[in-house]
Amino acid sequence: MLENISNIEKESAELIAQATDLKNIDALKIKYLGKNGEITALLRTLRDIPADDRPNAGSRINQLKNKIENLIKKKQAELLSIITDNKIRSESLDVTLPGWGPKKGSLHPLTIVMDDAIKIFASLGYTIAQGPEIETEYNNFDALNIPQNHPSRDMWSTFYVCPGYVLRTHTSPVQIRVMKKQKPPIRVIMPGRVYRSDAMDLAHSPIFHQIEGLAVDTGITFGDLKGTLSSFVKQIFGEKIKVRFRPSFFPFTEPSTEIDVQCFVCEGRGCRLCKNTGWLEILGAGLVDPAVFKSVNVDPDKYSGFAFGMGIERIAMLKYGIDDIRIFYENDKRFLEQF
Ligand code: FA5
Repeated sequence: MLENISNIEKESAELIAQATDLKNIDALKIKYLGKNGEITALLRTLRDIPADDRPNAGSRINQLKNKIENLIKKKQAELLSIITDNKIRSESLDVTLPGWGPKKGSLHPLTIVMDDAIKIFASLGYTIAQGPEIETEYNNFDALNIPQNHPSRDMWSTFYVCPGYVLRTHTSPVQIRVMKKQKPPIRVIMPGRVYRSDAMDLAHSPIFHQIEGLAVDTGITFGDLKGTLSSFVKQIFGEKIKVRFRPSFFPFTEPSTEIDVQCFVCEGRGCRLCKNTGWLEILGAGLVDPAVFKSVNVDPDKYSGFAFGMGIERIAMLKYGIDDIRIFYENDKRFLEQF
């Protein structure tokens, strides 16, 4: 028995010293100290030796057990410290390496189209004016010759803030503000956000963006309107774009027109986006109605002018081939990162 103990003592010390990782150590722990390990086996043989020798043998086995436990603990600590050192060394940072630059965002497609449109009109001599989004009912409707009983005043189209004030339904009231302040000649564009209680669909949103334009001078004709807007459409979409001028009606212009651009989804054949017309309406325009000039004290016998109001979302949809207006407002990075 004592010889056996010495053998185990020698062998275990060697094997523990040779262990190179924690798995080896765990295996040795089971081999010597486990339920079916060699120390347990030794303890079981105690009952077979003479009673007089038992205390001495028992104490030797316990000493061996403590020794193996201590050796294993020491080795585990040693291996853990080596592992930690290696980890620290492999994860160490070279602080002299250049860092990552901050990721640059991109402009929203509506901002890009708005900026492009502004640049085109600036090159034609137009300046910029702005007005408030909460507008008087007078500027939004009355001054623009929109009668009290006009359907656009109804609760379904207009968000009323309080009596006499609305969320502007178009950028046209800024025309009124400009003409009240500035005498002709006027060439101005007025970009901004507008609000309508329109139901959301592929081409309509209750909040959208418009750019209003106004030119007032002596001798302005419908030809000037057509030339200016044709040139704008070609510059923003390219020479090949198919455009049509369609007669229309606005209470604040006479005559009035709407400009449609051929639908990019169906190429004019008709689809869900263009409501089977083959065309998408991008703007309304016309010669300023004399009644509007009168409301801002501009002499309609001396001056004439044209005005237009274009939908920025519709232009961006046509320019970038976007078939659902809602995607502009969803802040989806996968969409925004493409611009
Ligand atoms: C107007 O808002 C007139 N103020 C435009 C105008 C100005 C005419 C000056 C004459 C002189 P309209 O409601 O058609 O017109 O809107 C103009 C453009 O805004 C439309 O051609 C379309 O491109 C866009 N638009 C209209 N409603 C929506 C909507 N709910 N969502 C997105 N775009 C819209």
